[in-house]
Amino acid sequence: MKITFANPALPAQGIVVVTATEGGKLSKSAEALDAKLGGALTRAAKAGKFKGKSGESVDLMAPDGRYERVLMVGLGKAEDMKDLGLQEAGGRVYAALSGQGANATVLVDAIEGTKMTAADMAANLGFGALLRSYRFDKYLTKEPKEKKPVLKGLKVTCASSAKAKAAFAGMEKVAEGVFFTRDLVSEPPNVLYPASLAKECQSLKKLGVKVTVLGEKEMRKLGMGALLGVGQGSDRESQMVIMEWTGVPKSKGAKAQQPVAFVGKGVTFDTGGISLKPSAGMEDMKWDMGGAGVVIGLMKALAGRKAKVNAVGVVGLVENMPGGNAQRPSDIVTSMSGQTVEVLNTDAEGRLVLADALWYTQTKYKPKFVVDLATLTGAIIVALGNERAGMYANDDKLADQVFQAGEAVDELVWRMPLGKAYDELLNSDAADMQNIGGRWGGSITAAQFLKRFIKDETPWVHLDIAGVAWSKKAKPVTPKGGTGYGVRLLDRVVADHYETK
Ligand code: BES
Ligand code: MN
Ligand code: ZN
Repeated sequence: MKITFANPALPAQGIVVVTATEGGKLSKSAEALDAKLGGALTRAAKAGKFKGKSGESVDLMAPDGRYERVLMVGLGKAEDMKDLGLQEAGGRVYAALSGQGANATVLVDAIEGTKMTAADMAANLGFGALLRSYRFDKYLTKEPKEKKPVLKGLKVTCASSAKAKAAFAGMEKVAEGVFFTRDLVSEPPNVLYPASLAKECQSLKKLGVKVTVLGEKEMRKLGMGALLGVGQGSDRESQMVIMEWTGVPKSKGAKAQQPVAFVGKGVTFDTGGISLKPSAGMEDMKWDMGGAGVVIGLMKALAGRKAKVNAVGVVGLVENMPGGNAQRPSDIVTSMSGQTVEVLNTDAEGRLVLADALWYTQTKYKPKFVVDLATLTGAIIVALGNERAGMYANDDKLADQVFQAGEAVDELVWRMPLGKAYDELLNSDAADMQNIGGRWGGSITAAQFLKRFIKDETPWVHLDIAGVAWSKKAKPVTPKGGTGYGVRLLDRVVADHYETK
């Protein structure tokens, strides 16, 4: 969908959207339109008990011979107005209109009592509508035409529309990153496997991202026995992809050049391996590369909007399959860090992949921080449901930055504990550690495992996104399916704290 911006002008016909705030106060444009319609809008608002709260709307089909449809959406209380509220309103506008006409116009007015300018409001509304318009329908060859969305263009009008356009330009790049992530997690695992996912990463080259792909031979040389053990039961070759975005001018000093790093679990399908998962629900494991998907989409967003940051994204790509050469429970593998791991459950594979990806990232790049993302445990879904990702950190400052960014973009996290007693559950009689910590606190022991591969000097956050990478129901700016959770979150962390001036 194409979002465009223009200066205020009341359209003479077509599909028009206006706004109102809580208390049912119509915006200037809404008032003007209401007058043109002989008061139909206020009458309908009254009849429908419309109060202007966010989520409420008044919908008039063909109110007269000129207008095809007039939709009035509530924005909530003027004093509470924030980016997010406008994004959600935009998402709801898209959802309401997507099936009707090819084009619609949204009239955004400055509202008394808010800190936001009309241009800010318009840009955010456009962003939300765009985010909601995503659809993964490439394999629906027989979908009836009337089920396909028809809305192709949304024109948002506001004062100083050039400013809205400029603000939206960066948001659009972030949306492109989110869409890339959603595409990747939605692709089926016969199409998306380590090598084909690595190929998808190569597409970032045209944005100026340096992309390096390591195959099994190179990883064996580097000593990545933990990652390689996971992939050895699969006919698909394991891969590691390193994406580097250099957005800091060469003239800046060494400290400014130090990159921030993002590491993702990319299990393109997780059968559990020899510790085979039950068949019911196993299809969900196509999105077990969700962490990698976020890292890739985030790199696309950062490069797309030319963020003034040096960032490196590293993804470990494997397929976890049973087979004649598959890893067995009780195998002992040697990780790149030199630490040995007794693999007691081949279904606890994500941590093995991340162990080597994390070690590689820290030794090669000495980053300012590392954030890793992984659909790591079912246990985090038991703990936090589908509302928040689990966050683990060895650094309070970084943890706070991620927490605050989450609240700002509505990609929420909740910090979970780490500690010695949890760590000890990983001790093994046969190797430096085992890959499972027992029945209880499963997300915590998984995080403790990762922590054994984090150097003391590296500020680190681990996000267990198993509960938030995929959604069975639509939310205002997120259709059901792959959410892209994490791209907006980490883009925001970078934008707020790690870009050079
Ligand atoms: N990929 C799964 C975790 C997962 C579960 C993600 C549900 C998304 C939805 C992970 O590899 C896994 O199998 N974890 C095991 C760990 C256990 C064997 C210690 C789990 O959570 O059961
Ligand atoms: Mn698993
Ligand atoms: Zn997994």
